[in-house]
Amino acid sequence: MSYDDAIEALSTDALKFVKDGFVVGLGSGRAATVLVKSLSTLIKIKKYNIIGVPTSLQIKLIAQKGGIPLVEADHVDHIDVVFDGADQIDSQRFVIKGGGGALLRENILFSLAKKVIVMADKSKFVKNFTRSVPVEVHPLARNSVTAAIKKLGGKIELRSLDRGYPFFTENGNIILDCNFGVIKNPKELSQKIKQITGVMESGIFIRKPDVIYRAKEKGKFDII
Ligand code: A5P
Repeated sequence: MSYDDAIEALSTDALKFVKDGFVVGLGSGRAATVLVKSLSTLIKIKKYNIIGVPTSLQIKLIAQKGGIPLVEADHVDHIDVVFDGADQIDSQRFVIKGGGGALLRENILFSLAKKVIVMADKSKFVKNFTRSVPVEVHPLARNSVTAAIKKLGGKIELRSLDRGYPFFTENGNIILDCNFGVIKNPKELSQKIKQITGVMESGIFIRKPDVIYRAKEKGKFDII
């Protein structure tokens, strides 16, 4: 029994939030992948008419393979429930996202969603954020945003692929991974980051999840 077993078990449980006719936001990453596979099975068994809204090509491919009908976010005026993973969750229930680079689309879905459900393994739960904050930036604003984030106390690394090429998001932007050390006031920091011209999205999400699933050892999980 492993972390993956726990994610699988909690995904099955989390599907109780899906009803026939729902518009369902599909996050990106490992946890979202397990959830989307379980969702595909559920809609086939229950013959549910749901529509999925993907946050990345990564999850779109999984959803298409599972036969989930899809539309893009600008085709819907609401999302009933969105399921997503997280990179870190602090004791105030703020979430850092963007480890996979899908933060802009993920945050659009969070803002449209009536219910946000986040699933993560227990290593990602912290009192205060300690990991770097992914910041999506227009490529032409790289230098100006770098200077502004340094003024906020961040140490910046341009996200790159294995062979040194810069990583580009699906929106054609770059990611600056910004290390602020321990973050005691995530809301204030996120607001300051988002005010910088050229920043497209901050990885500190201000919309708190409604339900948080925590995967534990031996295939177990709890709800926070
Ligand atoms: C994608 O950009 C991210 O926000 C992911 O949702 C986050 O990195 C969690 O991914 P895992 O479930 O793979 O850990």
